[in-house]
Amino acid sequence: MSEQVIIFDTTLRDGEQALSASLTVKEKLKIAFALERLGVDIMEVGFPISSPGDFESVQTIAREVKNSRVCALSRALPKDIDAAAEALKVADAFRIHTFISTSTIHVESKLKRTFDDVLEMAVNAVKYARNFTDDVEFSCEDAGRTPIDNLCRMVEQAIKAGASTINIPDTVGYTYPSEFGGIIKTLFDRVPNIDQAVISVHCHDDLGMSVANSITAVENGARQIECTMNGIGERAGNCSLEEVAMILHTRQAKMGYKTNINPIEIARTSQLVSQICNMPIQSNKAIVGANAFSHSSGIHQDGVLKAQNTYEIITPESVGILTNKLNLTSRSGRHVIQHRMQELGYRDTDYDLEELYTSFLALADKKGQVFDYDLEALMFFNQIENQP
Ligand code: KIV
Ligand code: ZN
Repeated sequence: MSEQVIIFDTTLRDGEQALSASLTVKEKLKIAFALERLGVDIMEVGFPISSPGDFESVQTIAREVKNSRVCALSRALPKDIDAAAEALKVADAFRIHTFISTSTIHVESKLKRTFDDVLEMAVNAVKYARNFTDDVEFSCEDAGRTPIDNLCRMVEQAIKAGASTINIPDTVGYTYPSEFGGIIKTLFDRVPNIDQAVISVHCHDDLGMSVANSITAVENGARQIECTMNGIGERAGNCSLEEVAMILHTRQAKMGYKTNINPIEIARTSQLVSQICNMPIQSNKAIVGANAFSHSSGIHQDGVLKAQNTYEIITPESVGILTNKLNLTSRSGRHVIQHRMQELGYRDTDYDLEELYTSFLALADKKGQVFDYDLEALMFFNQIENQP
């Protein structure tokens, strides 16, 4: 039996805060519906105290979305928590996410307080949020750089105050997988009441390790991953939803974890987020990049034509992409040219494969990628040349 990992999506909060233009309520609602259809368990959709527009979008989404729990962010301050609760109260059930920094650099340089002050603020904030809902999440901002004794104290006190989810963010994407996994393991070893809360992780991608850190955290006991579609978010972004979901799905038999994400919705949701947020997806991006299912080398193309799983560990169809792509380049072999001609509706007797392949290679050497219309033009040109 696989264990469930909760997918907490923060595309509309951490993702949106990194965009150059903020989204309208309608745009946010469109993304929220797509995330609901994708199967996210929880969606964090804004920071209501920050602006009237953010308040309105949280309220609208909380009213409309029924199959994912809606959550809003607040600092560890009563006025923030009041705003979050006010925006969310239209929903049948909701989550309030409150946070405060716990690392020494943040506590001293940003908050200009002592760790004990911050501990007291955290406890008060969690208790206050519990007046509105029993689903309270508490985050130790910059947990990745927090002295472990302080982190253990904070987690224990936040759970005691009533937080049912404790989030451990690697806010600045600084840790590496064995180190971050070690932090989660230490919490399980040392915090006496840890079993009374779900341990969550929220990793940023400054060193490109957010996905690896999140997966290692799960292997060490975390059961909620915070992530965004296409990995959008502050600076280098957040842990990418499609990547963690497909890792847990593809390797479920070996790893033993599952999520409620419906993989077939991934491509469509990714495109929607990219377009609405005006954030293009890099072509070699795992799972959703334009090249994620395209093959260029002749050896790979030949292998995929014989059996798709020779070079594809997941099928494009399983994540909602119609088909894989075989790029026609000077590395492509005769087999691929013949296959493409068949796809274009030509019989083997309509053209001379050897002749077509020779002219294809000459063109590919000059041009790089050869397209279907080039291939057809070459065929017609050869036919004309061969006329008596
Ligand atoms: O990166 C971070 O620490 C955050 C918190 C507010 C959870 O986004
Ligand atoms: Zn973050």
